[in-house]
Amino acid sequence: MLARRRFLQLGSLGLSAFSLKSFAQSPMHKPIVISTWDAGIEANKAAWKVLRAGGRALDAVEQGVMVTEASQSCCVGLGANPDRDGHVTLDASIMDEHFNCGSVAFLERIKHPISVARRVMEKTPHVMLVGAGAQQFALEQGFQLEPAVLSKDAEKAYRNWLKKSEYKPVINIENSRKQTAFVPNKLENGEWNHDTIGMVALDNAGNVSGSCTTSGMGFKMRGRVGDSPIIGAGLFVDNEAGAAVATGQGEDVIRVAGAHLVVELMRQGLSPEAACKKAIERIVKIKGNKAKDIQVAFIAINKRGEHGAYAIQKGFNYAVCYGDAANNLLDSKFLI
Ligand code: GLY
Repeated sequence: MLARRRFLQLGSLGLSAFSLKSFAQSPMHKPIVISTWDAGIEANKAAWKVLRAGGRALDAVEQGVMVTEASQSCCVGLGANPDRDGHVTLDASIMDEHFNCGSVAFLERIKHPISVARRVMEKTPHVMLVGAGAQQFALEQGFQLEPAVLSKDAEKAYRNWLKKSEYKPVINIENSRKQTAFVPNKLENGEWNHDTIGMVALDNAGNVSGSCTTSGMGFKMRGRVGDSPIIGAGLFVDNEAGAAVATGQGEDVIRVAGAHLVVELMRQGLSPEAACKKAIERIVKIKGNKAKDIQVAFIAINKRGEHGAYAIQKGFNYAVCYGDAANNLLDSKFLI
């Protein structure tokens, strides 16, 4: 009966069991945490401490990305690239196994937007707070107002950007397979070349949760918000199916409700990798010739502890951790 239902579900997706064989089924691990880009290695270590001790996936994904937010060495958190007017504005979201979710967007001068997003989820009747209201809420909750200064790297990158003030996304390229420690990736001109950390985890109790935090596109228009704080776009969790998170050009993730799409495809029987690929194909179809100018990638885990990823372009990697000595950066498959 179950097999027949799965066959019918796959048929409705235009897939046969045969075509699914072309997707690697990753080994199953429980607990497991995965996160985007090379910064995920350090973030996973913090998340793993929570999971190893039998803690909740929700706590793991918050603790994990806080490492990156605090690092001052990546395009996440207050050390990140500013908008075109010179202000760092941060977006973050978090979601647990009960469809509880919280997010903040266009938040300034707060070190840990992910923790503010969690407070929105737990302490308010709302899902999302933005701008001055989000900052006011953070202060009411005891978060500290940080100085409005750029990090050394961001200051340099901003001055460099101002020379041309060219407003265009940069495709992220990283290569990694042997890397097991965070080695910052920079472009030739010294700018950081990625902007988001997304993390999803499955805990010992079999529950999934996810988090996502970003400074958004470097030198963006003031007020621009990407996919990361939009539940269903940058992040989605459904405890019956799994969890997914996105990185890359947020506008194109929002258009297809990307993370929700990936999770829904897993619910219908696809593996995490196959689901991520199908969502990437959807974006590429919409973008047509312009797909080659952007990067979007998804990572996902399912309830069985399988993981997967897919990107538009070469150069996306993600960190997979299921043990103290099992925290590795993997190169994602890609479409074009
Ligand atoms: N994916 C992050 C952003 O576009 O803001």
